[in-house]
Formats: sequence, structure tokens, C-alpha cells
Amino acid sequence: MTLLSANQINEIELASLALQQGELVIFPTETVYGIGADAKNSKAVAKLYAAKNRPQFNPLIVHCASTEMAFSLVNTTKLARDLAHAFWPGPLSIILNCTENSPISSLARAGLSSIALRVPANSVCRTLLKLADIPIVAPSANPSGKISPTDIKHLDQALMSKCSHIIDGGRCDAGIESTIIDARFANPVILRPGPITRASIESHTKLPCNSSNSGNSGDSGDLPANNRPDAPIAPGQLASHYAPISEVRINASEKQDGEIYIGFDSPNADYHLTQTGNLEEAASNLFDLLHLADTKSPSRIAVAPIPNIGIGEAINERLARASAPRDFI
Ligand code: TXA
Ligand code: MG
Repeated sequence: MTLLSANQINEIELASLALQQGELVIFPTETVYGIGADAKNSKAVAKLYAAKNRPQFNPLIVHCASTEMAFSLVNTTKLARDLAHAFWPGPLSIILNCTENSPISSLARAGLSSIALRVPANSVCRTLLKLADIPIVAPSANPSGKISPTDIKHLDQALMSKCSHIIDGGRCDAGIESTIIDARFANPVILRPGPITRASIESHTKLPCNSSNSGNSGDSGDLPANNRPDAPIAPGQLASHYAPISEVRINASEKQDGEIYIGFDSPNADYHLTQTGNLEEAASNLFDLLHLADTKSPSRIAVAPIPNIGIGEAINERLARASAPRDFI
């Protein structure tokens, strides 16, 4: 755990007070920057949805300082306890059913009976959560549908102006949002691939993982129960997401006229996700390079093919969304 300076702790303390008072705060996590609000305070949560221009049917992840705090909000399962033991604190969000009379704002849950929980590992974030001592909802700190920020320089000015504090914690290590697992049933269901890979989950739980979009059946078939047909059953159900301003072409084996070419072990690329085939490095650079390429306003951003193994699965999922048609926005 990184040691924090007295100045940083002072700044985090002020931010924790602001959260308790219903303000919005941007802070680093090990995945991407989050924009946080008190999960129990519906007014603060409403302000958060408005600031991001996020559809209110899209629920938020509740961030907690400890597994104890997180599990006090839900009905746990053996699978959830095993996952928490193996991966918390860390880049994993676990979906479970809320306890009756849940203190979490129903707006934060988008009216669902389940919630997504995460105990982050980043030391600035952990200190903030400990000092605030309340569950904090925190989506990625980007306007809805845009690329997540992995560095303070990616933050949107208008979004920043709606926050009382912005904590700079440098670059986010993983650079890609947490893996989301539905742990309400016997087998884990991956709702969003991320830094904790399928192989790692399967090896720790000794259970096969299902994916929400793989037409799974059996106990994983009944994904988040809710009454509205338009509510997402899986995160980022909106096809276009993580989108830069420029158009994106994926699986591009060469650069075409007017494009900025982001390579994966590609000698002639404009920018390199990695030059050694390291998928973790590629994940960590992905959003940074998409942000950077976007600032050059190319006719298109082309991205080289990425091996679909390990965290490559998460990279490809984000790229597929970044390149999806955007007519719905
Ligand atoms: O790494 C992360 O998870 C970052 C950092 C800031 O912690 N947060 C993040 O939040 O990526 P956000 O809001 O950008 O993505 C949360 C995803 C959404 O796609 C949402 O649909 C899904 O989690 N989600 C939240 N609660 C859910 C639930 N009860 N059932 C199914 N999906 C849920
Ligand atoms: Mg997001």
C-alpha cells in the first residue's frame, strides 16, 4: 500500500466530509477514476446521475471500505464470500440481493432488488472510504457513454465543475473498469469482463463462469430480477459505450488514410498499447491512448487486433462498444 503524505491525507479528509454532506467527489481507484456520492442519500445520488447525464435505469456500484461493510448491505452467498476472500480489496464488483429495508437509495439501485458491491484496493480510495465511513456509489468519472478517465488529465471540465473535490492519485493501475460478477447463484456469471480474468475466477472458485451475453441458462438464466423490461440485465447493455468522439475501427491490421493507428506489437503504429505483447500493459494504456488519439481529431481511430485471452477479453469488449453505432445517444 502506497504511503500518503500529510497533505494528501488532509485533502482526502476534506473530501470525505464533503461526501458525508451530500457533495460529489472525483477520486482515483485502481481501475479508473470514479465520481462518488453518499449511497444512502437520494438527493446526492440524483445529483450524480444528472452530472453524468446517466440514464436513471442504469444502476451504480456501491464502494465500501471493508468486506464487512459491503456484506452488511446484502444477503451473501458462499460464492460471494469466496470471491471476496480471493479478490477484495481489488478490481471486482459482486452483485448480490439487498437486505430488506436496504439503506442504499433505491435510485442508486435503479429500483433493482440487487446491488453491485466493490471494495477497492487503491490507497487513496481506501483512505477516503475509511474516513467517510459510508457506502459510496461511484460510476466512472466521465459523461455517460464516453471513455472512462484513467488520469486526471482525461477529466471533463463540465463534470469537474459539479464536484466539490477532485483528488489526483496519478494514473490508475489497471486502466479498465472492474470485472462484474453476479454471485447470487451457484455459478459465477460474468456481467462485465475486467482486470480479474475468467481464468482467475475459475481457478479460485473451481467453478465454470457463465457470461451474461452468452445465452446462458440454468440458474444463471435469471439475471437481475426487476419489473421493467427496459432495465439492463447486464452492465453496459447499451451497445455504444466507452466511445471517443472520433469513429473507431477495430481489428485493423494496417493504418488507412487519415487514421490514427493504435498498435498491439505493431511496428508502424502511431501509438502502442504494448510493444511486448503484454495484455496488462495494453489494458492500462487503452483509455489513455483513446483519449490521446481523440485529441488529434483524426478521421478515424484504428486499433490493431487484440488476443482474446485473459484481460484481452475485457479490452475487446470495451473496443467493441467504442466502435458500435452511436445512433441511440
Ligand atoms: O471499476 C469500476 O467498476 C469503476 C470504478 C469507479 O469503481 N466504476 C464503474 O461504474 O465502472 P460504472 O457505473 O461506470 O459501471 C457500473 C456498471 C454499469 O454497467 C451498471 O449497469 C452495472 O455496473 N450494475 C450496477 N449495479 C448492477 C446490478 N444490480 N445489476 C446489474 N448490473 C449492475
Ligand atoms: Mg462507466
